[in-house]
Amino acid sequence: MSLPKLRKFQALTLLLCIITFTMVLFNYTLREPSAYFFKYAFRLFPRGPCGCRRCLAELEDDPWFAERFNQSFHPLMSRKGSLLPEDTYRWWQWLQAERQPANYSEVIDKLFQIIPDKEFYMDSGPDRCRTCSVVGNSGNLKDSRYGPLIDASDFVIRMNQARTEGFEKDVGYRTTHHVMYPESAVDLDNGTYLILIPFKTLDLEWIISALTTGTIKYTYVPVMPNIRASRDKVMVYSPSFFKYVYDTWLEGHGRYPSTGFLALMFAIHVCDQVNVYGFGADQYGNWHHYWENNLVGGAFRQTGVHDGDHEYNVTLLLADKHKVKLFRGR
Ligand SMILES: *[C@@H]1O[C@H](CO)[C@@H](O)[C@H](O)[C@H]1NC(C)=O
Ligand SMILES: *[C@@H]1O[C@H](CO)[C@@H](O)[C@H](O)[C@H]1NC(C)=O
Ligand SMILES: *[C@@H]1O[C@H](CO)[C@@H](O)[C@H](O)[C@H]1NC(C)=O
Ligand SMILES: *[C@@H]1O[C@H](CO)[C@@H](O)[C@H](O)[C@H]1NC(C)=O
Repeated sequence: MSLPKLRKFQALTLLLCIITFTMVLFNYTLREPSAYFFKYAFRLFPRGPCGCRRCLAELEDDPWFAERFNQSFHPLMSRKGSLLPEDTYRWWQWLQAERQPANYSEVIDKLFQIIPDKEFYMDSGPDRCRTCSVVGNSGNLKDSRYGPLIDASDFVIRMNQARTEGFEKDVGYRTTHHVMYPESAVDLDNGTYLILIPFKTLDLEWIISALTTGTIKYTYVPVMPNIRASRDKVMVYSPSFFKYVYDTWLEGHGRYPSTGFLALMFAIHVCDQVNVYGFGADQYGNWHHYWENNLVGGAFRQTGVHDGDHEYNVTLLLADKHKVKLFRGR
């Protein structure tokens, strides 16, 4: 080939290459313009600790939170996680000063023949975005119209004697998890997970009994001998996690944390975004349940075992630091 001919050939080849490349690119972006764009854009930004726009577990932004938040504690018990260090067992056993506790490891063995032995919810990561509503029982929920907002979360966590019937506009219809202890137990529908907070070995024996023979009718007060709940949806709050909440988050205030605070801590450790409803007093400073009219002022802010003021302070702090969103109602 002569020199001009070679130049012409090279130019033509280059042109052909450019046209082909442009066509392929154009074709691809036309077919999947957004997929192409996002695939590319996501490579430019590092992914967060969760799949939500904001993630609770983001630690860089707050030293107070980072110092306390420890995701290596499992909030719920599995057979493997049931072994307690000696000091944890002694602390836990001291909570309600059980006189002659049954053999703990034998009870645990029976327990996990009845309920699932699984590590629930330890699945945090960039692909998960789990939103949770923690619904306390405060009178500040009355006329709040929070129902639809509460129901919109993945998890709706209620506690103790909570009821929804007749209060749906304010508190919502759904309950995915109900946190209780034997003395505060209620029947559940078949779609709700039961989270038992054990304060003593007898409480573990009670849940076994309440799901089977119904022989335990009394702890320090009469308790429900049987409970309506799906066996495959029963979970037990871990005593180790319980102690971590008390030591680390309450810094030893009160004798032990309230159900509300324990439920909130559960949510913070298994959810990526947490909304909190029905905590604290109502607009008149009264502490009562949303389904009750009698205003027993201060009745369970200071019950002797919980430091309600300190717990509320920590809750407010979590809200200030945008770790939870606190809905104060009216
Ligand atoms: C988190 O808890 C584990 C025990 O479950 C402990 O070994 C570890 O030191 C704790 N981490 C921090 C930062 O406190
Ligand atoms: C509890 O039971 C286990 C197995 O049955 C036994 O090995 C252990 O010594 C018992 N513990 C106590 C404190 O009695
Ligand atoms: C749960 O209860 C509803 C009625 O309340 C019933 O229709 C449904 O079949 C039950 N599901 C299971 C798995 O038992
Ligand atoms: C709660 O916070 C307030 C204001 O910061 C403070 O005055 C009070 O002492 C705190 N209460 C407890 C029990 O920590």
